[in-house]
Amino acid sequence: MIAIGSDHAGFPLKEEIRKYLEENKIDYVDVGCYSPERFDYAISAQKACDKVVSGECDKAILCCGTGIGISMAANKVKGIRACACSDYFSAKYTRLHNDANVLCMGDRVIGAGLAIEMVDVFLNTEFEGGRHQTRVDQIMAIEKGEKLY
Ligand code: RB5
Repeated sequence: MIAIGSDHAGFPLKEEIRKYLEENKIDYVDVGCYSPERFDYAISAQKACDKVVSGECDKAILCCGTGIGISMAANKVKGIRACACSDYFSAKYTRLHNDANVLCMGDRVIGAGLAIEMVDVFLNTEFEGGRHQTRVDQIMAIEKGEKLY
């Protein structure tokens, strides 16, 4: 199950992603927003990320104008590793190396065609583990307030 969400600026891109998930019969839950009317991104970020942390959803895909604000909000939720991406390589490697569980994109930054390719690779790429597991563990240790140095 995939959670999708956006603010008003990311709404058109979130709708394109929703259509892609529908067409490919990928189960999703849309936490909103549901129209282009003003809606603040932190609300959607928290709603979607709570579903990832609870285990209801495996991953989340979030959209705002830049992908940045919504990724900042997402990364405040404990257990979340969100990446704001605007290129295919980053969307792939944030899975391979960072075990990212949330992909964030900006409607004002990239087109729907690239976004869909990024969603596809993000959802279908496994974490490599190995030396990268140590680094991901360090990220999560910072979240727990541990000192790495
Ligand atoms: C909304 O105008 C815009 O600031 C927001 O979507 C996002 O780009 C913030 O990071």
